[in-house]
Amino acid sequence: MTNPAAVLSTPWKINGLTIKNRFVLSPMAVLQPTEDGRPSDQSIAFLARRAQGGAGLLMVGGGAATARGVAEAPFQPLMRSDDDRFIPGLKRLVDAVHEYDVPVIHQIFPSFGAMGIPGEGRTTRAASPKPVHMGAPRLPNGFYIPGGRTNPTPVEITKDEIREVQEATVAAVRRCKDAGFDGIELGAHMRYLYSSFLSPRTNWRTDEYGGSAENRARILVDTIRALRAEVGDDYPIGVRMSVNDHLPDGQGPKGYAEVAQFIAAAGVDYIALTDGNYESMDANLPRESGAILSHGEAQIFREALPDVPLLISSTYDPQQAADAVESGIVDGFMLARQLLADPDFPNKVMTGRTNDIIWCDHNNSCLRRLIFNVPVTCSKNRETGRESGAAARKATLQQNVLVAAAGNPALMGIADKLASAKNRKANA
Ligand SMILES: Cc1cc2nc3c(=O)[nH]c(=O)nc-3n(C[C@H](O)[C@H](O)[C@H](O)COP(=O)(O)O)c2cc1C
Ligand code: SF4
Repeated sequence: MTNPAAVLSTPWKINGLTIKNRFVLSPMAVLQPTEDGRPSDQSIAFLARRAQGGAGLLMVGGGAATARGVAEAPFQPLMRSDDDRFIPGLKRLVDAVHEYDVPVIHQIFPSFGAMGIPGEGRTTRAASPKPVHMGAPRLPNGFYIPGGRTNPTPVEITKDEIREVQEATVAAVRRCKDAGFDGIELGAHMRYLYSSFLSPRTNWRTDEYGGSAENRARILVDTIRALRAEVGDDYPIGVRMSVNDHLPDGQGPKGYAEVAQFIAAAGVDYIALTDGNYESMDANLPRESGAILSHGEAQIFREALPDVPLLISSTYDPQQAADAVESGIVDGFMLARQLLADPDFPNKVMTGRTNDIIWCDHNNSCLRRLIFNVPVTCSKNRETGRESGAAARKATLQQNVLVAAAGNPALMGIADKLASAKNRKANA
């Protein structure tokens, strides 16, 4: 049996970047930036605390990289990289993390696609006009939303708009590089713009961006080539994508791995694997550790991409993680909720202090707060979300009620009955 502390303490590389161990802070939009989208003292304190706790690489989540991304962002406020004026603030964040000798990668979104919020005179864009339906039975643990939720139908993005998005993305990545980020990650998962191209379930196009796996990969392939021309071959570029839609008419791991082969061949330095999407949130935010391994999805990706570093989500069992590294399937482990619950998790595992770990309960009160735009805190750790010592932005009464109600099966059961009765009356 492998020794988790020893195996997970080993260094590895993304392009020329050395990462001192296998623990990676998964990208999370929990940074409480300023209202105008700059890193705050809290953003920096949150990240510094994860670096102190032993994570070998930090991913900065939820960056809005274009004017469109900023305007339609489903979570507010987000960190921005859509203008040069944001570079000094981003540099302050990067310098602070580098004090801990830990690299930091910025995850950016040029558009939130079908998950975006339409506004005055502005519709959302996706590969095809397929809305996101978050059905009540597929919500993650701790969420009770009667009838689920369906987002507005996006408009098919035109080729000119695809080119505009690409140009804006290249400019944003240049800013991230100027700010000192050690790399960037394109968010191509969940049902955001890029991900809508990757699966035939959400891409019905008949032009060169739809149909074959090569065509569905094209938007990312072209973007990565343009990024390479801007930032050079040495700058780490990653892509975060799903391994499986987990939906009856969805794409499975073999289809996604085929698309990933084209993306990787364009010059990607790592692929971060996540499970499911907004319509299969139960798979995306699992309770159990290592589903991507036990379902064999990571193995299918490894077979398709023998030489590309792979990171996986939701594998917080140290033994499982160490075994996957030893067998060469996975290189790094992205931890999200476990590092909200216990920022010292990496150090505790690497020094064998596993009895001291504060385990995440997977009840997702953090996520309910995110969805209702309340600063994210953790029910298992009072320090989380308040690392800078400053009081978090106060939630409104309505936001607090929504966060509590969406996590309460009794309240939501009543709401469900009322809604069904109203529907019956309307249909009588
Ligand atoms: C509060 C919160 C915010 C998140 N924000 C982002 C984000 O900005 N970008 C992203 O790719 N994933 C985001 N995620 C998803 C996580 O990175 C991760 O994929 C998910 O939580 C499953 O991993 P876990 O089991 O380690 O929590 C977020 C998750 C949570 C709980
Ligand atoms: S609130 Fe904390 S303990 Fe609960 S799911 Fe989120 S990270 Fe885990």
